[in-house]
Amino acid sequence: MPLLTLEKISLSFGMHPLLDGATLMIDPGERVCLLGRNGEGKSTLLKIVSGEVVPDGGVVRLEEGSVLSVLPQSLPSDDPRTAYDVVASAFPETGAVLAEFHRLSQMADEASMDAMMKAQERIEALDGWRLDQKVTTILGQYGIDPDRTLNTLSGGWQRRVLLAKALVAEPDILLLDEPTNHLDVPAIAWLEEALAQFRGAMLFVSHDRAFIRRMATRVVELDRGQLISFAASYDRYLELKEKALEDEDRQNALFDKRLKQEETWIRQGIKARRTRNMGRVRSLKAMREEHRQRRVRGGTANFSVEEAAKSGKLVAEAQAAGFAYPDGHRVVQGMDLTIIRGDKIGLVGENGTGKTTLVRLLLGELQPTEGEIRLGTNLKVAYFDQLQG
Ligand SMILES: Nc1ncnc2c1ncn2[C@@H]1O[C@H](COP(=O)(O)OP(=O)(O)OP(=O)(O)O)[C@@H](O)[C@H]1O
Ligand SMILES: [Mg+2]
Repeated sequence: MPLLTLEKISLSFGMHPLLDGATLMIDPGERVCLLGRNGEGKSTLLKIVSGEVVPDGGVVRLEEGSVLSVLPQSLPSDDPRTAYDVVASAFPETGAVLAEFHRLSQMADEASMDAMMKAQERIEALDGWRLDQKVTTILGQYGIDPDRTLNTLSGGWQRRVLLAKALVAEPDILLLDEPTNHLDVPAIAWLEEALAQFRGAMLFVSHDRAFIRRMATRVVELDRGQLISFAASYDRYLELKEKALEDEDRQNALFDKRLKQEETWIRQGIKARRTRNMGRVRSLKAMREEHRQRRVRGGTANFSVEEAAKSGKLVAEAQAAGFAYPDGHRVVQGMDLTIIRGDKIGLVGENGTGKTTLVRLLLGELQPTEGEIRLGTNLKVAYFDQLQG
């Protein structure tokens, strides 16, 4: 029986459905990497699994008696609790009494003695020393000082504390959202080692290829509201993906050839065409729409602009433009692109492929190192930098 089942989950914020019948099953011990574009809904899906967000429809089922823990994407901004208290809070009731006991034991004055006695009785009633032992052990294993407060720890150390909290409950499944974000290399190595010791199942979101490669036993893609599962290692997944993209390219090329024929046909004028053939005109319209909707991929992007567009007001035109940084790192190469007023272009690409560089070229902030980029006159540019909130 699967440990976790997601059945036809749907959710939308406003009009656009974020999840649209997403279905997934995870078996004990599996390590599933959830991939998807930014804003596609990965974090939201994890929150649905943990119960933090309630979906509009569908069912989340966790096998009875199993424990789920979460390592969240963002770190607490100013948490004054000690590392001990944070980790102990994995056990809601007992953790609070244990934390209280620790606090009182540090004061150790007359007045606190009574309170300490009371706390001790409750801890015994809850079998709390066993949990105290677990908390102390994991803090020791992770090299964390139990009395340091979270807000005095670096990001990497805070994440260690949060991982200790997630794992001290000995979960059957652990959810992790971008666990290596902002961690330096030794901290990532440490995290991988700690997770390798963990025997439960994992569902994690990451953009860190090395981390995915080492962790994932399966890859699941979130794409336009649906989950697609690849029962493969990350490397195998990349191969399958590459092949799928090649197939798509081939299909696109065939499609473009047909579209071109139809565009020639419509330009022949009604007389030459003899019949009005509205069916064919409608299907041409549909083809144009389909072509417009096509996603432009990163890497070797092909921008195609229809002839008619030339009459519009020019925003930017690039001819065989390229850009290399002084260290020789080439980011843009052989780019031909025309942008006219009213165009809305989504630029898609992985981190570090040069999206920001391309935008800065089009803004005139950077000069191409080869070819030419011509900008229109009287342009007003509103630019939302990625670091602005
Ligand atoms: N509570 C909410 N109300 C309205 N919209 C929301 C809410 N939570 C998330 N969204 C929107 O849903 C979309 C998906 O967000 P989510 O954080 O799940 O994406 P993601 O795939 O984790 O992205 P990233 O890769 O950037 O972390 C975004 O457009 C986000 O703005
Ligand atoms: Mg996210």
